[in-house]
Amino acid sequence: MSTTASKDRRDFLANLALAVTVIPGLGVLASQILRYLVPYEPPKTSEVLLTRLSQLPIHSSKPFKDVLGNELIAIRLGEEDVRVFSSICTHLGCRVEWRQTEKDFFCPCHLGRFDTSGQVVSGPPPAPLPSYEVRLEGDNVFVTVPEKEA
Ligand code: FES
Repeated sequence: MSTTASKDRRDFLANLALAVTVIPGLGVLASQILRYLVPYEPPKTSEVLLTRLSQLPIHSSKPFKDVLGNELIAIRLGEEDVRVFSSICTHLGCRVEWRQTEKDFFCPCHLGRFDTSGQVVSGPPPAPLPSYEVRLEGDNVFVTVPEKEA
C-alpha cells in the first residue's frame, strides 16, 4: 500500500516537473511563432507642416517643437535643400544648436559635434542625430516625424 502511495507521489512529482518545464517552453515557442506570423509594424509617423520656406533663409537654422511634441532643428543649406533633425543630442539628451560659421550642430553639454547630415564628427555622442524626411510644396515645408506614445 505504501509503495503504491509512494509511486503515485513520484508520478505526481514527475508530471509536475514536466509541466513546469514544458509549459513555459511552449509559451516561448508560441510567442516566437506569433512574431514570425504577425508582420512587423514600423513606428507610426505623421507628416506635419513645419514652417514656410520664406521664413527659413538659406544658411539659416531654426529650432521647432512640432505639433506632436518632437524637438526638431531645421537647416536650409540651399534653395531647396532643407534638412530636419531631432535637436536632442544622442549622448545624454541636451539640445544641440546650429553653428553657421563652423557649419555643424554643437552640443554644449559635452562638446559633441554633428555634421550637416547629422553624423557624429567628434565628442561622446554614440549615434547620429535622427533625421526626418522633408517635403517642399510651394512655400510649405512638411516633415514626416514619429508619433509620440500616448
Ligand atoms: S549630451 Fe550632447 S555631448 Fe553629451
